[in-house]
Amino acid sequence: MSSNKIWTGNMTFILAAAGSAVGLGNIWKFPYMVGSNGGSAFVIIYLICILAIGFPVMVSEILIGKYARKSPINSLVRIIQEFKLNLSWKFLGVLGALAGVIILSYYSVFAGMAFSYIFKVFPQGLENPSQYSSDYFNDLSASPINLIFWHTLFIVITSIIVGIGVVKGIGRSVNILMPFLFFFIILISIYSSFIGDLETTISFLFKPDFSVITPQIVISAMGQAFFSLSIGMGAIMAYGAYMPEKQMIGKTVVTIIFLDTFVALAAGIAIFPVVFSNPSLEITAGPGLIFETLPVAFYTLPYGSLFSIIFFVLISIAALSSSISLLEPFTAWIEESKKLNRFSIVIILSIFVWILGLGSIFSFNIWSEVKFFGLNFLGLLDYFTNNIMLPIGGFLVAILIGWVMPKNFLKEKLKLRKCLFEVFYFSLRYIAPSSIALIFLYSVF
Ligand code: TRP
Repeated sequence: MSSNKIWTGNMTFILAAAGSAVGLGNIWKFPYMVGSNGGSAFVIIYLICILAIGFPVMVSEILIGKYARKSPINSLVRIIQEFKLNLSWKFLGVLGALAGVIILSYYSVFAGMAFSYIFKVFPQGLENPSQYSSDYFNDLSASPINLIFWHTLFIVITSIIVGIGVVKGIGRSVNILMPFLFFFIILISIYSSFIGDLETTISFLFKPDFSVITPQIVISAMGQAFFSLSIGMGAIMAYGAYMPEKQMIGKTVVTIIFLDTFVALAAGIAIFPVVFSNPSLEITAGPGLIFETLPVAFYTLPYGSLFSIIFFVLISIAALSSSISLLEPFTAWIEESKKLNRFSIVIILSIFVWILGLGSIFSFNIWSEVKFFGLNFLGLLDYFTNNIMLPIGGFLVAILIGWVMPKNFLKEKLKLRKCLFEVFYFSLRYIAPSSIALIFLYSVF
């Protein structure tokens, strides 16, 4: 790969990877998962998964991409050839590329909703803004046409950026967006703590109550950790290919994980105080949670509609900087075969993603009663990707780097201090794979 395909400066990689990690998973999904899964028990298991599984898996993914400097699938192929490994390791990459486009199909539906909220200003003088807000969300989700419009718009923008290419399209935009997003989410959480019920929020989020833990909560927390960090499908591996040679992987991963977790918790603190102080809002509202609660918080705020617009613009951009990383691995792989140009590949993939997304849209309305294993179409895709495909991807990456590749290779590439390296190596070899496997078995039986 030529050197003009490597990002300049350490910050661009960090911002791009954090841009991939920080997205709807933090601001939309984390709060509703916490709300529907009993609060603090979920939060604590989530944090443990981030450290014990997320850290070693993310380091390994970046290592593969940075070493081989190709799309995830071809990076794996290169490693297979150089280290004379079994050819089937390639399927790890294929599984990931597929997971990416499946996730994108429903990610885009929610990102589209966030888009639509940019243009929604609540009328003045409402008697019950919370009721108005829930009704508005219910109306939006009942309308396939509306949802299709926003879903289409989101896919088109994502495709244009990925079509332009990761180095040009992504590198520059994240430099401006990410700092702004961090600042704003902190501002909103402070505001929300003042107007809402902070005390209940803190004990809901952080006061451990392990009596409520079920296998379902554990697997959901692990799935959420994978989803939120963008690991298990090669997104971060794809970005690793553009990482400057001198940049240290370990330190970088610590920063990305910190930022991701920080934004998720801040989103929780922005949303729950409002929910707890409004009887008509439900903590277990599910995917509609932020759409129903945030507008209510903004409603009481001076210049609220302006803040609301800024906030939904930020969420939409955060969603975009994530969605591009879902499409990138598949696109980069086909591009390397040189049979099609980037734009044609992106168009073909997007059409597939768009059609699959219709199924998720209909899950809100005309197909809401159609269930597979007790889940609607959207729920099924979500469960299958986050709780099955991503953990399998993460498990295989940990086995590949921890057990199949020589220890010296790792040592040389990571350049960690000796004791740090040993801790890392132990968690990669033993803790991460066994926890993924145990959680898996635990949730199945
Ligand atoms: N992490 C993103 C979010 O929190 C979503 C995402 C982007 C993702 N790329 C990914 C999830 C790759 C899994 C795998 O919104």
